[in-house]
Amino acid sequence: MRAVVTGVAGFIGSHLAERLIKDGHDVVGVDSFTPYYSVSIKESNIEELNRSPRFRLIRSSLLGIDLDSLLSDVDLVFHLAAQAGVRASWGNHFRDYTRFNVEATQELLEAAKGKGLSRFVCASSSSVYGEVTQLPVTEEHPLKPVSPYGVTKLAAEHLCGIYAKSFGVPVVSLRFFTVYGPRQRPDMAIHKFIAAALKGQPVEVYGDGMQTRDFTFVKDVVDGCMLAATNNPKSIPYNIGGGSRITVNDLLHLLERILDMSIKVTYIDKQRGDVTHTHSDCGLAKSDFGYSPKHTLEEGLFEEAAWLRELCD
Ligand code: UGA
Repeated sequence: MRAVVTGVAGFIGSHLAERLIKDGHDVVGVDSFTPYYSVSIKESNIEELNRSPRFRLIRSSLLGIDLDSLLSDVDLVFHLAAQAGVRASWGNHFRDYTRFNVEATQELLEAAKGKGLSRFVCASSSSVYGEVTQLPVTEEHPLKPVSPYGVTKLAAEHLCGIYAKSFGVPVVSLRFFTVYGPRQRPDMAIHKFIAAALKGQPVEVYGDGMQTRDFTFVKDVVDGCMLAATNNPKSIPYNIGGGSRITVNDLLHLLERILDMSIKVTYIDKQRGDVTHTHSDCGLAKSDFGYSPKHTLEEGLFEEAAWLRELCD
């Protein structure tokens, strides 16, 4: 099959494109290499892909190319391009969030109309829930994002819903829960914690460290995308999580054991836009397209630590 992956040089996009190539598909990847984090990291994410004759890169923003031709003769679309980052979405930066998360999604959906795609998978986020009143959270929980980022991801989900309903675009939105693993973005907790520990520097914890996260290993997220693309999900949002939760303090204890070193911690103020707890109920994704997470947090942390050890050498 022919697949388009947007955000292909990013953390999740690059892993997904590699899996598609491995499974025998042709991939056109689009990425604008925005400088939200080091462009050289994104370049190294696609080194392996660039060696494949079945991979083609379009180096541009989605807002700057002919999306109609991009989606011609394509079977699968994986829309992962986004302005990421919960805590950075306040203030003047919000314009990037509306352009990349809302406008670009609408333009891609518009181009997807009538193309006969077999699936359009759109990356959403656990941040659409906001502060949850029941854990683990199911897809029926009220959606009250507490960060500008979450507001744009929710808007994108709604756009997906109406393009499915009004034009039959076969869209499925997947709500990813704090994804981690090799190539994780450098602004995210696990990457920052391991990198600081390896350099002997203290880590900064926001708040008292008692907040919890459902961390999801990137290979499980890739599995979730592939299963949603090749089975018959409904055109609704689904949770794609790791299925358990841990406090940030306990995560640090686990990292101390895995890295075999002690980690110095500085506690600073809780950050605006951060939710207190996340924990996914993935029952719906399991029953509708067979998703269930396979990797324990410990296994995943070992892999991310090995990758960062090599990177920091
Ligand atoms: C992550 C991603 O950054 C979002 O793009 C994604 O949409 C979201 O997951 C999601 O699940 O929807 P976040 O959960 O904030 O957002 O991920 P991390 O940056 O890994 O933070 C995890 C926890 O560690 C948070 O409670 C945060 O407050 C804490 N943290 C983070 C620290 O205590 N110190 C840090 O230096 C960084």
